[in-house]
Amino acid sequence: MKKVITYGTFDLIHEGHINILKRAKELGDHLTVAVSSDSFNNQKNKRAYHNYKTRKFILEAIRYVDDVIPENNWEQKADDIKRLNIDTFVMGDDWAGKFDYLKEYCEVIYLPRTSGVSSTQIKNDLFRVDHG
Ligand code: CTP
Repeated sequence: MKKVITYGTFDLIHEGHINILKRAKELGDHLTVAVSSDSFNNQKNKRAYHNYKTRKFILEAIRYVDDVIPENNWEQKADDIKRLNIDTFVMGDDWAGKFDYLKEYCEVIYLPRTSGVSSTQIKNDLFRVDHG
């Protein structure tokens, strides 16, 4: 069985998220999604609308997702890959090159982002509608 992992905050799920999850799953048989915990988001100065528990709950309902684990810090990726016997690490190409050091442990693939949508953009667009 080929195991794939990807990381992210996955707040306000949109088609860019679904695209990357679908394509990540197609690279293997089992997909683990490591989701930024609330404390890790705080550390990154990233504000999510939904808390970790809700983001996990939503991701678990997506057909491409087999398992959801928390991402608590920047350093855990190599440990996750070894512990879970991961074959392929996938990220959007906004991260291209940033995780090449993981090639020591598994295949590393950057997939093209879906253009024109992000959680931040959704939040900004809604704020603009409400506040002119
Ligand atoms: N992603 C993508 N296409 C998009 C948006 C995100 O492929 N349009 C991918 C990212 O490259 C990443 C994963 O989805 O691998 C999770 O990204 P995340 O940061 O949670 O989503 P964003 O919408 O980019 O959130 P934000 O605007 O808060 O950065």
